[in-house]
Amino acid sequence: MSEPATPRHVAIIMDGNGRWAKNKRLPRAMGHREGGEAVRRTVKACARLGVECLTIYAFSSENWKREEEEIADLMKLMRRFIEANLGDMVEQGVRLKIIGDYSAFDPDIVEQLEDALERTKDGSRTLAVALNYGSQQEIARAAAKAARQGDVTVASIEANLDTADLPPLDLLIRTSGEVRLSNFLLWQAAYAEMIFMDVLWPDFGEEHLEAALDEFAQRERRYGGR
Ligand code: FPP
Repeated sequence: MSEPATPRHVAIIMDGNGRWAKNKRLPRAMGHREGGEAVRRTVKACARLGVECLTIYAFSSENWKREEEEIADLMKLMRRFIEANLGDMVEQGVRLKIIGDYSAFDPDIVEQLEDALERTKDGSRTLAVALNYGSQQEIARAAAKAARQGDVTVASIEANLDTADLPPLDLLIRTSGEVRLSNFLLWQAAYAEMIFMDVLWPDFGEEHLEAALDEFAQRERRYGGR
């Protein structure tokens, strides 16, 4: 089977903000702030390189276990990120999509997110942000819904996942050298290529994305066939 050389859908586990800050003797919040800058760069790089959909793991359902102060910093960053980037997203035709249950966030963030979803809804490319997201929970929710609809099959579960309207996941990248999926896109990763990179997320730049896309283009995908 011949495959397009550029992935349509790339997902990233943005890991290493804390270590980046620690290496520089800075507060963790600075690592997250620089992580936000890396998100901005990466969205732009995806547009330039022809990636249609980027999904990022911004806040997992397990991240509530972090210190209160760090959670507050991440929420502050989220507010600022949307404020600072919404105009550019509309202008650049980037549709925002949220996966996970963001209703658990502060009401002002929920309102801000819903406004951003509405204002970007006509974009032709997608930035999907995983917020309060856990893949096992997503699969359980989708299976329960499929059961209520009276038909539990691979296709019916898939149709009820948060990602149902996104292209199939082609490439999953994790930064910081850790080699695990941490409850991210477990179902969607069934046939995705995976690339684990040593760079800490705040240092991630266009050159890292390009290197990952080059490696992707060299891999032969078989989907279980030969
Ligand atoms: C992992 O680093 C990163 C996170 C838990 C949060 C990711 C969030 C951002 C990059 C913020 C910007 C994103 C948006 C959409 C506003 P870590 O803290 O687990 O790093 P460590 O493993 O080195 O401690």
